[in-house]
Amino acid sequence: MDKHELRVMALTGGLLSIFLFAIIYNAFSRKIDVPTCVPYTGVFKKPHIKKVDDLNYEVYAVAHMWSYDPDEITIPSGSTIDLYLTSLDVVHGFNIVLKGVNLMAVPGGVSKTTITFNDPGIYRIVCHEYCGAGHQYMMGKIIVTDKR
Ligand code: CUA
Repeated sequence: MDKHELRVMALTGGLLSIFLFAIIYNAFSRKIDVPTCVPYTGVFKKPHIKKVDDLNYEVYAVAHMWSYDPDEITIPSGSTIDLYLTSLDVVHGFNIVLKGVNLMAVPGGVSKTTITFNDPGIYRIVCHEYCGAGHQYMMGKIIVTDKR
């Protein structure tokens, strides 16, 4: 190994150390964290299902790593849900399998849709936007009962 090679290696090592130090220093000194932000805090502070009348519901749902809140919604068949959805951290998906409902839960924003469930059954909700290590476990369900 000649001395040019050694010099290049030393320079590379030195630069790498500086970059690593800068990244670690910034991560700790600025307390970098995933932002948490819920718009319209009044309704989303506590995610909930609001019964408007026997066949109309409003759902205020919050997605976060790696679940939905609420993660289970039970309604009688024939019901209509006004769904308001936001995210606490990163972009998540909200796909109601068999219903063709395909929403994004975006931090700082609210997605809204209206869905009617005429057939009783269990409708699975899956996150279809990659959101980190627990993405594949992120799911919920809507249980549509046949009693009215
Ligand atoms: Cu949430 Cu993928």
